[in-house]
Amino acid sequence: MTRHYLMCRPDYFAVEYAINPWMHPEAGADREVAIRQWETLKSAYEELGHRVSLIDPIEGLPDMVFAANGALVVGGRVYGARFTHKERAAEGPAYLKWFTDHGYDRAREASFTNEGEGDFLTLDQVVLAGTGFRTDITAHKEAQEFLGRPVVTLQLVDPRFYHLDTALFPLNGRRVAYFPGAFSPGSQEVLRSLFPDAVIADEDDASVLGLNAVSDGTHVVINAEAGNLQLELKRQGFEVIPVDLSELRKAGGGPKCCTLEIRE
Ligand code: ARG
Repeated sequence: MTRHYLMCRPDYFAVEYAINPWMHPEAGADREVAIRQWETLKSAYEELGHRVSLIDPIEGLPDMVFAANGALVVGGRVYGARFTHKERAAEGPAYLKWFTDHGYDRAREASFTNEGEGDFLTLDQVVLAGTGFRTDITAHKEAQEFLGRPVVTLQLVDPRFYHLDTALFPLNGRRVAYFPGAFSPGSQEVLRSLFPDAVIADEDDASVLGLNAVSDGTHVVINAEAGNLQLELKRQGFEVIPVDLSELRKAGGGPKCCTLEIRE
């Protein structure tokens, strides 16, 4: 099925502050390389037949390339982001404005802290929601009421996996892949009972942000370095499309972070 993604060109990308353990401002990042890698990701989606819309990047918001954090869009309803850190606060209203400017009239500003699809992942029957580092559990309730979909809370425990989308991704509407070590014991049990047929990733693949992948149900766009996971996905019949986003990983992001899915 054709997807619609919102992306933001990393024209002002930089690692200027550290709000997750991947970020080292003293080491910085190469913006030109990041732009080239991002263009490859965008082309990969377009070659798969997906539609990509773009939001204008804003100077002074170096993390705005990570569009996944900008909102959560389900059934045409847009639940706005409200960022944890002041450095990214202005991104919330910027993304919400893109949606209202583009005719999404069921858009809502959030009352509680949440980082959009970074912490909310949508399946057919449920929305999985991470908490522990960024998104507040009160936002899980707010999203459930606003979207009319059951929201299942999952507790993140490892600071390297500060957003749900760094530790888990939907393979299709019913199945997921994840790294168990990123979750509390109780949440690991929840995941085992909801997804007995999940693809389980190892720590090596999680450590290169291999779980920050985007699947359209058939193709999985995934960080090139996540070797074991790619093999396993192929074995399970998925078509794997490796991309190199090493420069964006210096800010703690991968393919999924750069991609906000718009579900009409
Ligand atoms: N530097 C950004 C931050 O820490 C990276 C965001 C990555 N986005 C994501 N969806 N995981 O907020």
